[in-house]
Amino acid sequence: MTEEKLKALLDSMTLEEKAGQLVQCNAGQFIANTLEITGPDGETLPAEDLCRVMGSVLTFEDAKQAKALQDMHLAADPNKIPLLLMLDVIHGLRTTYPIPLAMGCGFDDGLVAECADMARKESAACGVHVTFNPMVDTARDARWGRILETNSEEPLLNSRMGAALVRATQGNDLSDPGNVACCVKHYAAYGAGEAGRDYNTVDVSERMLRETYLPAYKACLDAGARLIMPAFNALNGVPCVANKRLMNDILRKEWGFEGVVISDYNAVGELVSHGAAADLKDASRLAMEAGCDIDMVMNAYYLHLPELVREGTVSEEMVDAAVMRVLRLKNELGLFENPYHGADEEAEKKIYLCPEHREIARRAAEETAVLLKNEGILPFRKDVKRIALIGPFAEETRLNGFWSRPGAEKYTVTLPEGIRALLPEAELRTEKGCGAEIGDTDDSGIAAAVRAAAEAEVVILALGEPENDSGEGRSRAELTLPGRQTELAKAVIAANPNTAVLLFNGRPLVLTELAETAPALLEMWYPGTEAGNAAARLLWGDANPCGKLSAGLARSVGQYPMPYNRMSTGRPKPEPDNQPFPFTSCYLDMPNLPLYSFGYGLSYTTFAYEKLTLSRKTLGRGETLEVTVRVRNTGDRAGKETVQLYTRDPVGSVVRPVQELKDYQKILLAPGEAKDVVFRLREEQLRFYDMDGKQVCESGEIRVSAGWADHLLLTESFTLQV
Ligand code: GLC
Repeated sequence: MTEEKLKALLDSMTLEEKAGQLVQCNAGQFIANTLEITGPDGETLPAEDLCRVMGSVLTFEDAKQAKALQDMHLAADPNKIPLLLMLDVIHGLRTTYPIPLAMGCGFDDGLVAECADMARKESAACGVHVTFNPMVDTARDARWGRILETNSEEPLLNSRMGAALVRATQGNDLSDPGNVACCVKHYAAYGAGEAGRDYNTVDVSERMLRETYLPAYKACLDAGARLIMPAFNALNGVPCVANKRLMNDILRKEWGFEGVVISDYNAVGELVSHGAAADLKDASRLAMEAGCDIDMVMNAYYLHLPELVREGTVSEEMVDAAVMRVLRLKNELGLFENPYHGADEEAEKKIYLCPEHREIARRAAEETAVLLKNEGILPFRKDVKRIALIGPFAEETRLNGFWSRPGAEKYTVTLPEGIRALLPEAELRTEKGCGAEIGDTDDSGIAAAVRAAAEAEVVILALGEPENDSGEGRSRAELTLPGRQTELAKAVIAANPNTAVLLFNGRPLVLTELAETAPALLEMWYPGTEAGNAAARLLWGDANPCGKLSAGLARSVGQYPMPYNRMSTGRPKPEPDNQPFPFTSCYLDMPNLPLYSFGYGLSYTTFAYEKLTLSRKTLGRGETLEVTVRVRNTGDRAGKETVQLYTRDPVGSVVRPVQELKDYQKILLAPGEAKDVVFRLREEQLRFYDMDGKQVCESGEIRVSAGWADHLLLTESFTLQV
């Protein structure tokens, strides 16, 4: 449809019909005809009118339902404007791949794109028009349950991986029924909630906002994301959905975003709870004036926008602009001509969980696992005869993580299935040992677990945090393994030291006590549909672990916030970190550094960082400098290594971090092979925001290092002359 025809359609609409386009309802309630709307005085208004004119729905099940939704709506809508169908497809639709935090540990943008492409195909077949993905909230506090949903504590990974996901999901032409539009979220700084509590208030400096929290949203919009979702939290005192500075000034004016802004679930109505609005009518005004186009589920706009326009409080031009953005998106998706878009029941049957998709999911699970410790235990020998598989996750099917689609556990390859597929001859005995629920004190199963361990050649301890204990609304104040898992581990390891621990969790846990006794620790996160196959192949060496932590693991929850790119302070703690130095920036009872730092991860082989050279000793404005790092595989088997490039600006008009990740490349090396990894470092990457909130670059020494956070192995310097 041409712009003129869209404009003509808009001009033909009543105020109620315009308000309807700006409301998103629950698909399930619409299908079941239980959609109710609550009026200004709490009365329930008939939803029939809203069903006629609503603009979009969220959370539907499959292609059949997608078509039914569209048919029902179009039959009733006098303007015949197709619905937008939206769904949270965060890490796979039917074939679930690892949680985003795990994908960050892969340090592989290409793998993110490959998984996103798989999810796109399954989503399109399901009838999805818009996915509420990627979530790129930089998160640095593992108490926050939604840290699982982002790639990293580092904005660079969130930016590159978020943009890769957008490109792979949207393709080049959204009218192609195989492509799906992206809604980047949650704008902004949702991961900085006070005390790690979900939905909590956020107060950050302009510089912190600009350098740490905004870059990833901007990268996704630059990659073409068509929608953005303001976050639930208040940002510096104003809830995001009503935050004109964030939305009108930065998003629309500074960044030039012309796409659709959709609120989070009920967020417009929650302006009242925030204390930002007196009532739903006031909330509608505030959100509309801040540029929020669609009101998700609250129906506030439907109830109040017509009245606000008629009384002259909100201009009809403002409403028209919002409706036009929604109509343009529908038009770009080709919905006026093809309201079903990609919905296709036959395609669903053909591609859901197909071998190709399972292979991608399995490979992603293998590439994102992080080997934290290995005292020669792993990989196990293939000729093992008696295996004990112990722990609350030994036979768990819920290994997919929050936001996996309902029923994902039905398709998960469990640990026993994966081990038996790899080693059909071996005897496998499983014991739960104890529970994993928060507060579970039952350790009556430990004795049987110890017996099973003592009689086995190798022991696998499958521990972690229940799938439902991370994700939205799942913050924790303690981060140790729930229940009596640590006690179980100690008893089992004492009975048989030939024990490897597998961890299944959605957030970085505090593993300090476990790490002291476990001979081998393999972090699996929530690996998804192919969990059991990936774990078995990693344990027995058919796959070589290569993940690197995308967020550091604290020794104690008391260390948070604990960003890897920390400042020096005026009294930096001297080495060694394992003892206090009073009157320096340290703890009396604990080292400063994490238990395992950002960028850390082991392999079954070893790597040597032999040389770092610079192509030049000075760098001017707009110039590029090449950094070459020679890395050698010094072990006896092939392995992948993520070579990480860090810089430090030791002197600045504002103090700068002791280390900042600037680039990364993942390489495969055969035994004994060396490679020169070349990075192109641009002057723009060294810019930062000064005291006045201006982006600047300052002359002086810049140090360049390779290694991982807190363990920079090779360092050279050059001079920035700008
Ligand atoms: C939720 C989440 C958001 C999600 C939306 C729709 O509350 O905050 O990430 O996309 O509602 O399900």
